[in-house]
Amino acid sequence: MQVITTQTPEQASLLVAEIIANRLQALPAMSLALPTGNTPLLAYKHLRNLWKSGDLQARKASLVQIDEYIGSEETFRDYLQRELGSISWKEQLFWQETDDPKEIAQRLPQLDLLVLGIGVNGHVAFCEPGCSEDDRFYKTSLSEETIRRNNTTAHHALSMGIGYIKEAKEIILLATGKDKAEALAAAIDGPRTNMLPASLLQDHSRITVVCDLEAGSLLQNGKTQWSDRAVVVIGCRQEDGTYSPSSRGRVWAGSRLAATRGADIVLLSGGYAQDHQSEAFWMSEEFPARIETPLLLEEASDRTARHAAFVSPILRALGIKEVFLVTSWWHLPRFWWMQRWIGKEFRARFVPAWSLPFRGMKGQKRLRKEIGAFFWARADSQEGQKLRRKKSSL
Ligand code: GLP
Repeated sequence: MQVITTQTPEQASLLVAEIIANRLQALPAMSLALPTGNTPLLAYKHLRNLWKSGDLQARKASLVQIDEYIGSEETFRDYLQRELGSISWKEQLFWQETDDPKEIAQRLPQLDLLVLGIGVNGHVAFCEPGCSEDDRFYKTSLSEETIRRNNTTAHHALSMGIGYIKEAKEIILLATGKDKAEALAAAIDGPRTNMLPASLLQDHSRITVVCDLEAGSLLQNGKTQWSDRAVVVIGCRQEDGTYSPSSRGRVWAGSRLAATRGADIVLLSGGYAQDHQSEAFWMSEEFPARIETPLLLEEASDRTARHAAFVSPILRALGIKEVFLVTSWWHLPRFWWMQRWIGKEFRARFVPAWSLPFRGMKGQKRLRKEIGAFFWARADSQEGQKLRRKKSSL
């Protein structure tokens, strides 16, 4: 579990919107489930802005509803329509309160990305305390606390169950504000129990909690100081799309920097190839577990200009000012361009990973390629600038 604590709720919201935009860019035909409630409203505003500026790839994606009241005039379907209906999705998988949960469970796809909020009693979706861990989609009663807080006339709801939630390939849990601090601390640091449903996600293989200072204030390893510094590790794909030994060297250099320079975040940047996992994912698997700096993946980029352009809005969302850009030392000629693409507001430094010297025939070939890289990177610069211009029009 990765926990990213931001200084303000705005930063947390902007970050979640940028992660969603990044995943949609990486996997345009994805299934994305988004929550209701007050917490994500700001993130949805950012998503609408990204859509307006042409930076959100939603046309091939399915938007999936997480839960719905039964017996209320105000529906979550209307909420999602209101907040995200101006974006053209391929389809919106919404439902009515009269729908059969078993039938819904059957037609739901596996989720590529599921964003969740958390209730003050630790509920996620409408999985209330005491829920079963195996349910996939079900009808449930609402707790008195939820009814009161949500100010609803509904006493029942339809909801994804923990069983289905845990099948999602990636989960992001967004929590902001002081009233979420207790539930969040129990969910992350407490025992795994169905009396606090969010804690049942502790063992999910890919869950990131994004919280602001207040929501994170009771965490055991809560963050109270920020260095506004980030380590960005640029991935390097092999031609067949598999993980490359160069990336391994860069991950090692990045982890050392994170340990010694007190960075707020390590951003691993590298996109998908065919059916493989993203380069960023493989780098995260290799990242030493003992380093406490949270990891975040940028999974849409496949070339130098894109690495730089796509990490930039994520860094800006986090309020980062200084960036250590880790790549192989033979990328030095490209660094000047990378700096420009990342943006002048960041103080970017080149940190070479020394792991792969130009030894043998392969190395010599690479060296020859890299001498031309400066000119190549220059030719690539138009795209980098274009992407950056778009992203900064937020
Ligand atoms: C609601 C929803 C959840 C949501 C949670 C938090 O009842 N069922 O999906 O995440 O409660 O809501 P809020 O963000 O308004 O605190």
